[in-house]
Amino acid sequence: MPEGKPSLVRPARVADATSIMTLVNELALQQVMLPRSPASVIENIRDFQIAEVDGQFAGCGALAVTWTDIAEVRSLAVRPSLQRHGIGRLLVDALVADARRLGVPRLYAFTYAPQFFGRMGFTVCQHEDLPAKVFNDCRHCPKFLACDEIAMTRVLDAERSPPQLFGKPQRAIPLPQRTATFVPPQV
Ligand SMILES: CC(C)(COP(=O)(O)OP(=O)(O)OC[C@H]1O[C@@H](n2cnc3c(N)ncnc32)[C@H](O)[C@@H]1OP(=O)(O)O)[C@@H](O)C(=O)NCCC(=O)NCCS
Repeated sequence: MPEGKPSLVRPARVADATSIMTLVNELALQQVMLPRSPASVIENIRDFQIAEVDGQFAGCGALAVTWTDIAEVRSLAVRPSLQRHGIGRLLVDALVADARRLGVPRLYAFTYAPQFFGRMGFTVCQHEDLPAKVFNDCRHCPKFLACDEIAMTRVLDAERSPPQLFGKPQRAIPLPQRTATFVPPQV
């Protein structure tokens, strides 16, 4: 945290929704993360942790539970003027603590900041290693089949997240190939 300034990370409140949307969508315009709609922030406000410096909003991050054995770190963002002061790390620590409280054994992130997530103990994996994410969210994304975000994962509890499952879907779900010509079926 910036030296000499009082700072904290705390669960979000509904009053934080505007600050979250403003920051995330400003950064999304710079193409460093995906945007969030007002509804998706407000409906999921309990997923968010907020960092404050000197009583002011400094950043945010969310833990979105995807399935019983995995959750996503999403919408992690620090105000540009406050980046590289350890705030991102504190937000990830808070999200990890939340995941442990919930008993989630593995985290993942889709990101354009792999160096940062590497410092947070995440390693690169294949999108196909995360079938629940692909089937819940990715298929609704405009970038589906042409995704340029890097998938990364971090194991919190190895006993409940067996390494032999890495690299393979955990159930026999047919995954579409990411090719420019693939046309997803109409639902
Ligand atoms: C990615 C982001 C959240 C990191 O937050 P931050 O507060 O700047 O990160 P921290 O200061 O806590 O950095 C923690 C460590 O990661 C390193 N790090 C941070 N950003 C990095 C980068 N872009 N490249 C390489 N290393 C980086 C820091 O040097 C530090 O290293 P250390 O372990 O040696 O101390 C912030 O840069 C951001 O908001 N970026 C734009 C949005 C974004 O890319 N979000 C990612 C999720 S979609």
